[in-house]
Amino acid sequence: MDRITTLDEFIIDKQKDFSFATGELSGLLRDIGVAAKIVNREVNRAGLVNILGLEGGKNKTGDDVQKLDMFANDKLIDYLKNSGECSGIASEELESFVKLPTKEGKEAKYVVVVDPLDGSSNIDVNVSVGTIFGIYRRISDHGKECELKDFLQEGNKLVAAGFVLYGTSTILMYTTGNGVNGFTLDPSLGEFCLSHQNIKIPDEGKYYSVNQGYYLQFDLEMRRYIDHCSDTKRSLRYIGSMVSDIHRNIIKGGIFLYPNSRKNPLGKLRLLYECNPMALIVEQAGGKAINTNLERILDINPTSLHQKSPIIIGSKSMVDEFETFVRKYTPNGENI
Ligand code: AHG
Repeated sequence: MDRITTLDEFIIDKQKDFSFATGELSGLLRDIGVAAKIVNREVNRAGLVNILGLEGGKNKTGDDVQKLDMFANDKLIDYLKNSGECSGIASEELESFVKLPTKEGKEAKYVVVVDPLDGSSNIDVNVSVGTIFGIYRRISDHGKECELKDFLQEGNKLVAAGFVLYGTSTILMYTTGNGVNGFTLDPSLGEFCLSHQNIKIPDEGKYYSVNQGYYLQFDLEMRRYIDHCSDTKRSLRYIGSMVSDIHRNIIKGGIFLYPNSRKNPLGKLRLLYECNPMALIVEQAGGKAINTNLERILDINPTSLHQKSPIIIGSKSMVDEFETFVRKYTPNGENI
């Protein structure tokens, strides 16, 4: 039998590739891995909440039952606080970023952006959800508290990004800018084990993922592209949980679209917590990610923590093909 490589072993092994590495980023990634296991345990128990008598927002000892997305948020913050490698965290669940106390003698040089439980509206119906994270090196003085500008960096400045998909099995994929590797949680060992080494997204795929219910609210070029996908007999697959939809497309090939619409002129997904980390992962796997103005997602300059962005992401030749529709059908070439 081939020897299993655990996430921790892999992270430590990769650290050796960088002679200047101090182990801080590795420590941070390992802490995220531990937090992911705890969130995974709670997600898997979610259906038991009522059976265990946790109705009405209280458990048997009278404590409030936390919503799972807040639970995931708090667990991630706890673990990053303990690591001492992270000076702050910006979460989709919180209005502002949290400054983490520095540990004595340490100058934490990283900040983390996170969507603790993406697709959480799917939990009640047993559909896969995920955690998305990104890690930036601080641009403020390392000896002091982190600042807003540490988080408002372009996605191309991310030093690492990843996601955890709590699906039929639980998988963690991450990149430090040198390819993407995936680890599946073996529940019997309680370890994430290397299962998808240096994964590459197929250049072409048969899936397109979009909320077609909003079709009439989309711009003309988007509608023409969706018509084209349908005409060419591609299969529509839309879970409504970005991590799951993009994970499938990374494995099988496909395109995921969350465009602007009349209802949501900037789309729905957040640049910092969702679009940038997923864009880095997909690009590192050989794919492409742009907005509907054909700008590279990773080159968008963020101006606020909860900024939204339309996103088109997936197999490179499919995103290229989408671009040709935008060039052809955008009235008077507006915005491009
Ligand atoms: P939420 O975390 O509120 O459930 O949102 C999920 C996100 C993303 O994961 C998904 O692709 C998208 O919202 C689905 O939105 P629509 O329901 O508008 O399609």
